[in-house]
Amino acid sequence: MKACIFDMDGVIVDSAKYHFLAWQRLAEELSIDFDHHDNEALKGLSRVDSLERILIKGGLLLDNNTKEVLMEKKNKWYLEFISDMRPEEVLPGVKEFLVMLKEEGVKIGLGSSSKNAQMILDKTKLAPFFDVVVDGNQVTFSKPDPEVFINGARQLNVLPSEVVVFEDAEAGVDAALSGGFHVIGVGDVNVLSKAEGVIRTFEGLTPSDVRTMLNL
Ligand code: BG6
Ligand code: MG
Repeated sequence: MKACIFDMDGVIVDSAKYHFLAWQRLAEELSIDFDHHDNEALKGLSRVDSLERILIKGGLLLDNNTKEVLMEKKNKWYLEFISDMRPEEVLPGVKEFLVMLKEEGVKIGLGSSSKNAQMILDKTKLAPFFDVVVDGNQVTFSKPDPEVFINGARQLNVLPSEVVVFEDAEAGVDAALSGGFHVIGVGDVNVLSKAEGVIRTFEGLTPSDVRTMLNL
């Protein structure tokens, strides 16, 4: 384990709930039903891919300009939710885990589909921990394509097989696996069953626990 790459939304900060609320509000405006189950399938996808899924569900065909307007609307609501995000919204145990990785000389990367990643890292004061940040502004293909993680590993100068990815989304687990990375799911074992190991929280987790889980 030379490096760990973390997804952001739902892994290191509790922002997944705000994406849900903003998409739900948009879906409501479009008279499309949208519940937690629908939301689960959007986790990890880019903004545009998420909108496409919602429109397919509602059977709506819209032109690109209208889609842009809808995405801007959703992002405006999302930004309102996260505008006063504070370091307290970092998920339990995350900071402690990052500190332990640093002490052991394990490199740390972010691999997120979000275009708002840098802002969240700054607001939560997590930015200084990351040796590399790859987000939705720097990739052509979004998860489940492995590009975001491959790009991160390349910048960290490590091989995928030397990296453990932490993911809360099925699309993210698929991305990590198809890139040849180790992957730990963060959340519900039923959703993340393809991951090599699943944790519910970082609370109390140590880097050596991760090595043990993955036989590294
Ligand atoms: C992912 C989230 O991290 O980022 C998705 O899991 C979200 O729910 C995606 O749609 C894109 O985020 P943003 O901030 O660029 O709209
Ligand atoms: Mg996520």
